[in-house]
Amino acid sequence: MTFETQIRQNLLAWYDQHRRDLPWRHTTDPYAIWISEVMLQQTRVETVIPYYERWLARFPNVETLAQAPLIAVLQQWEGLGYYTRARQLHCTAHRLQEQGTWPQTAADWQQLPGIGPYSAAAIAAIVLAEPIAAVDGNVRRLICRVFGIDTPDRSTVQRLAQACLDPQRPGDTNQAWMDLGATLCPARRPQCDRCPLVGLCQTRGDRRPIAKPRPTVPLQHRLAIVPWWGDRVGLWPASGRLLGGTWEFPSCEVPDRTVVPTAYLPTFAADFGLTLELGPHLADVNHAYSHRRLRVRAYRAISTTSGYGGQWVSLPQLTAYPMGKLARTLAQALVP
Ligand code: ADE
Repeated sequence: MTFETQIRQNLLAWYDQHRRDLPWRHTTDPYAIWISEVMLQQTRVETVIPYYERWLARFPNVETLAQAPLIAVLQQWEGLGYYTRARQLHCTAHRLQEQGTWPQTAADWQQLPGIGPYSAAAIAAIVLAEPIAAVDGNVRRLICRVFGIDTPDRSTVQRLAQACLDPQRPGDTNQAWMDLGATLCPARRPQCDRCPLVGLCQTRGDRRPIAKPRPTVPLQHRLAIVPWWGDRVGLWPASGRLLGGTWEFPSCEVPDRTVVPTAYLPTFAADFGLTLELGPHLADVNHAYSHRRLRVRAYRAISTTSGYGGQWVSLPQLTAYPMGKLARTLAQALVP
């Protein structure tokens, strides 16, 4: 028996006993698996579970998703982050509905917006039983540990993962690596004494691959304003890959937290068409994205004209507008 076959056997025997009971593991419906894998792209399993269940209750198939207004889709996604994913799901649902067929290979899946090689392989292995290894950062770490690789290159890791794949059970092999990485073999403190691969593993808990030092995540300060016009507040459409499609409050970058907010009123006039009388401090909110940390100081203000490029919204209506975590925290601070 080859080394890879032994790995596969031990891994699958362990998976059969210890697999996590996750809601998307009770189906091979391409729609449900597609949704689950997109949700899991940048988000932890525990966070995804309730979103996945609510999503399938609200949009049980590609038709209901395609027919829903984008705003309803973004509302369901609120709190998961990387809102491009929700917009792409919605747009892809239209495309799939027109085509009337599901992709038939991992390569076809990868043609869809928002589906990279990893997600395409994960989906095709589960839904189509295509024998293709899905290698993300966790699987890469495990392959490096088992095979004793310090400085992996992508094609070597992919080839080794492929060699370990059980062609009869590709979805299970991929998900077994995922479970092993999430439970017994995380980046820190692997529990080798319980690992099904301990007798085969070349490193047994020595940390591999050699971790590159994490780049420091830059810190940005922003000044946010919640402008009022009568009993309504001014929202602004967020842009960019992370938050596009959601709503936020007008804000601008500032050098630090101690700036005098009135000094920035001309910026708010120029960028948002807002003429403002500054009011009291509302809240300080921090948020860490993967590439940047934000510290936001927010003030209330009164708008002296209605001519504003954003949207005036009454407080009870705020929940109908999808928002990222920062904006939602400020919106909640407004509710008495
Ligand atoms: N991460 C990405 N896909 C996954 C899956 N199918 N099960 C568990 N974790 C995952």
